[in-house]
Amino acid sequence: MTMVNAYAPDAAGSLPERERALIARRERLLGPAYRLFYADPVHVVRGEGAYLYDPDGNRYLDAYNNVASVGHSRPEVVEAMAKQAAVLNTHTRYLTDTILDFAEAFLAEFPPELSHLMLTCTGSEANDLALRVARVRTGGTGVVIAHNAYHGVTSALAEMSPSLGAAVKLGDHVRVVPAPDGYRRPEAEVGAAFARDVEAAIADLREKGIRPAALLVDTIFSSSGVFTDPAGFLAPAVEVMRKAGGVFIADEVQPGFGRLGTHMWGFARHGLVPDIVTVGKPMGNGHPVAGAVFRPEVIEAFGKSQRYFNTFGGNPVSCAVAHAVLKVIKADRLQENALAVGNQMIEGLRALAAKHALIGDVRGSGLFIGVEMVRDRTLKTPASEETARVVNGMRKRRVLISATGQEGHILKIRPPLVFSPDDATLFLATLDEVLAETTSAH
Ligand SMILES: Cc1ncc(COP(=O)(O)O)c(C=O)c1O
Repeated sequence: MTMVNAYAPDAAGSLPERERALIARRERLLGPAYRLFYADPVHVVRGEGAYLYDPDGNRYLDAYNNVASVGHSRPEVVEAMAKQAAVLNTHTRYLTDTILDFAEAFLAEFPPELSHLMLTCTGSEANDLALRVARVRTGGTGVVIAHNAYHGVTSALAEMSPSLGAAVKLGDHVRVVPAPDGYRRPEAEVGAAFARDVEAAIADLREKGIRPAALLVDTIFSSSGVFTDPAGFLAPAVEVMRKAGGVFIADEVQPGFGRLGTHMWGFARHGLVPDIVTVGKPMGNGHPVAGAVFRPEVIEAFGKSQRYFNTFGGNPVSCAVAHAVLKVIKADRLQENALAVGNQMIEGLRALAAKHALIGDVRGSGLFIGVEMVRDRTLKTPASEETARVVNGMRKRRVLISATGQEGHILKIRPPLVFSPDDATLFLATLDEVLAETTSAH
């Protein structure tokens, strides 16, 4: 996998004995396929709000975990989980209220056209189900995705997740289009260019006798490099796919649940109503619950001809947890917080760009921010090594972020939604120091 922020096993010698022993134990028990973040991996034992703690009680500001979006170990969520687990946990083949109470509250967050919810345990399962439904709906198999996309771990989704690296072969029915990059081309051209690329991908599929089934994109283009602007740029490409007989699957696993500040969902920023929406990650604040939302006409043929049973998907404990998360997002106005603190972060980062030449571009919406690092602002040469140094320099000062994009040169900043103005101030001051250090070491 093109892993842009990873511990290198040959650096084990420089780590403290306790962490070295843990890593050796992991390798012995878990095998070779897992990766750790950071040159100096972070050993955590506890989380609270926007902070993680190591065994020595040191505090780390978490500016990366979009899963624990209502805060690590959030008491209301823990309580809802324990309360439901003490009474009943079963599956969707019995009549229970919990799933319906959640579905009612959750679907109210969507445009009225999107009115059926199915629940899974992971975002991968949600995307996998979306693909099955899209195939039945359209009679096609072709899928168009964005450059360096990531959509999940199953065989079907790994075939459409080029960010896993060249060793994972893309499917013959998959076409990759360039990311809608408003930094490397004028923003005004992004929407038309993306639509043209999708059109060309569809033509290429047809040439090989493959009928298109779907345009599948993460509406924040997180692994492509975080592309947010201009809002609305996605609409022409969706129109092209629909005209060709395919559906639009909005993968909201990363941007969803209020993170973008202006809207609850990334597709809404683009003024769209998708055919299928997939959700996950922050939905259970760490508990594995995910799902897909459908237009009724899109799921109709699938529902009539096939059945769906997911043993754990939609169980009462998961539904109680997801409902508690939704209630906290609403009660604490976390979407508004994402907008306010996100704006503070973006303004602060733009001020840092005026001081530090390494920053080529600052973009984002709410608390989903990408900072593109370049060696030369005119040539826009990716500063991949410097970005790794910044990520690790921040970690050394106990502030956690990561990097994204195929060249790993874009800082990915995506804190829990409970991130406060003081957290943002601490973040910006730390990044200022680290950038000064990185530039002087250059
Ligand atoms: C955009 C996107 N879609 C889908 C997934 C898969 O979700 P999960 O890891 O819950 O299977 C991810 C996970 O990182 C993701 O980022």
